[in-house]
Amino acid sequence: MKINGKSVSHDVEPRTLLVHYIRENAGLTGTNIGCDSSSCGACTIHINGESVKSCTVFAAQADGHDITTLGGLANGDKLHPMQQAFHECHALQCGYCTPGMVMASVSLLKENPKPTEREVREGLEGNLCRCTGYHNIVKAVLQASGQGGAM
Ligand code: FES
Ligand code: FES
Repeated sequence: MKINGKSVSHDVEPRTLLVHYIRENAGLTGTNIGCDSSSCGACTIHINGESVKSCTVFAAQADGHDITTLGGLANGDKLHPMQQAFHECHALQCGYCTPGMVMASVSLLKENPKPTEREVREGLEGNLCRCTGYHNIVKAVLQASGQGGAM
């Protein structure tokens, strides 16, 4: 498969989850594991541009596909607009949910470039944050969509 534009190839057991492959075989530890059971969204990545919880997919199922993790979003030293908005809006505290939150938010805006506050909240309902109360995360997504003053 390709991860963040680089080809990677390893032999894995059939039961290896994609999130474990990304972290342990490819060594990209920016993708977090929260629950291992598709509840928290911490492991959200993109497969062929679509947001997916990587603990719900076997590594072997991603064979031949294009994977993007948080580490693949920035352009050199230039943060992706969603990363920049999270930074500017203080949309994180411990940061554990952040990789998944950012990936899910990028995907949300791809599907709905000008969401309402409610649509952002509904769009991110599969991603849990124990710290922020969500307010600044929603604000960041609205800012990244060009609706900075919407809340
Ligand atoms: S670790 Fe994948 S959803 Fe929680
Ligand atoms: S910032 Fe801590 S879990 Fe979201």
